[in-house]
Amino acid sequence: MVLFKKKTSPRRDRVRKRLAANRFSRLSKLANADVFASAMLWLLYAVVCVLILSLDLIRRKTYAEVLSVAVLTVLVSVAGVFYIRHYQKRIIRNPIRALALVGLFLLLLATTKVAVSLTGDLWWATGTAVTAAIILVIAYSQRFALGMSLFYCVFASFAAGPTADFNLFLTMAAGAVTCCFCLKEIRTRMKLLKVSTSAAVIVFATAFAGQFLAGAAAEQSVPQLPRMMDMVRFAGFHAGITLVVGMLIQSLLPLIEKIFRIATSMTLLDYSDANQPLLKRLAMETPGTYSHSLLIGSVAEAAAEAISRNGLLCRVGAYYHDIGKINKPNYFVENEMGSLSRHKELSPAMSQLIIVGHVKDGIEMAKEYGLPAVLRQFIETHHGTTVVEYFYNEAKKKHEEQQAQSGSNGKRAIRSSPPPAESEFRYAGPKPRTKEAAIVMLADTVEGAVRSLSEVTPTKIEAVVRNMAMKRLQDGQFDECDLSLRELSKIETSISKTLAAHYHARIAYPKPPDVPEGPGQKDTKPQAAEKAPAHSEQVEQKSQR
Ligand SMILES: [Fe+2]
Ligand SMILES: [Fe+2]
Repeated sequence: MVLFKKKTSPRRDRVRKRLAANRFSRLSKLANADVFASAMLWLLYAVVCVLILSLDLIRRKTYAEVLSVAVLTVLVSVAGVFYIRHYQKRIIRNPIRALALVGLFLLLLATTKVAVSLTGDLWWATGTAVTAAIILVIAYSQRFALGMSLFYCVFASFAAGPTADFNLFLTMAAGAVTCCFCLKEIRTRMKLLKVSTSAAVIVFATAFAGQFLAGAAAEQSVPQLPRMMDMVRFAGFHAGITLVVGMLIQSLLPLIEKIFRIATSMTLLDYSDANQPLLKRLAMETPGTYSHSLLIGSVAEAAAEAISRNGLLCRVGAYYHDIGKINKPNYFVENEMGSLSRHKELSPAMSQLIIVGHVKDGIEMAKEYGLPAVLRQFIETHHGTTVVEYFYNEAKKKHEEQQAQSGSNGKRAIRSSPPPAESEFRYAGPKPRTKEAAIVMLADTVEGAVRSLSEVTPTKIEAVVRNMAMKRLQDGQFDECDLSLRELSKIETSISKTLAAHYHARIAYPKPPDVPEGPGQKDTKPQAAEKAPAHSEQVEQKSQR
């Protein structure tokens, strides 16, 4: 049998095995329960959508038409799935998100179908198209909302029935596209009103122009005044519903945030208020951690903006990242306030348990205070699965000392115990899954390292930032957040710049300011204070002179 065995190179065998393993892992990913649930949801959507769109056809028993509606629905739905897979994979991986999207489309389509069938007014279709566009921008991104709302416009054209024409599709698309382009984030309560007003103007112009063209083509001349008034009324209704939708969504915003598990910029700004109960507790019970969190917030915000990510989310996430320290404030160096470290009385393993515990405590507190999931991620991931290095090194040192001691006891030497495992001194994770979470992780690590420097200079800060970023990268902490090397480099530059500005060089006072003034020096004090430059701008002015 061995004689007939085909000769292959070991390298080729290895490549083949690797390819087979990759194929298997891809297949197993596809057969994943969440993906299967999303596929079932898509099937359910297609069936219910066909039922909604062909409601009157089924009543009239024109089954050939029902079949053509079914074919068109399936084709557009398949295109939609490809679009989702390309731009928002997380919807396919997360059946709850998929359910929210499917539910939104079906609810809006059913509303259009029933309302148009009962009233005969086509502006219902425009209203639901604008609703879909605004909700999708809030819940996802502008690009995704743009594509998905155009898919919705196709379905809504079917739902509007035989009276719908290309003009209706254009009017719906004009409203939806305007909303997608104008609505990037909601920072003020007027934003939705402004966006829906702009969309209403565009919808009015599109609907009127479409009607005018259709009227002129039908009458072979410019439409008469009464017909023109009908066109204005028609376009006015489409524009009116667009405006109403904006106001309606403004009032339903908290519900939309809950369903899609998101937080708009307005909500984030609310959570950044120092009067928020959790921030108040952080400031009162752990002032050191509070000031550390504020600094991380501004460092992370600038870094996120440098790579065009959500700076506000980073800032507010950083405010809450260490709330778990409220439970045991004195075990963290920034809250020691010069007192003796409590870890002196504890073993490294016990200290590590307390330190690691602040992540778990933080998650529990966030749940208790109803912090949105988008902010909870910063608490869960800000240490990823990194090692608590100080206590790991302490444990190793202690173990080595014990070994040396037992060895020096000669015959009475006890059996050597294994050294402490690195895995025991790691945080439980998870690793950051978004670029914003990765930025907060890096800013947190770097700030701690810079604070421990004896002398802080811009060059030293740059070196620390670079080292810490490389360390986290090599440790695989950024494996789950799609952070590119170019983005990491931009983040490093931004963090270095912000930290250098924070720890800017100060010119030494002629006399330490904490030393009390002696007798006879009273007269010289104001002059000395005036002459002593305390900030870098003053240093610059002095050198220019
Ligand atoms: Fe922490
Ligand atoms: Fe921290």
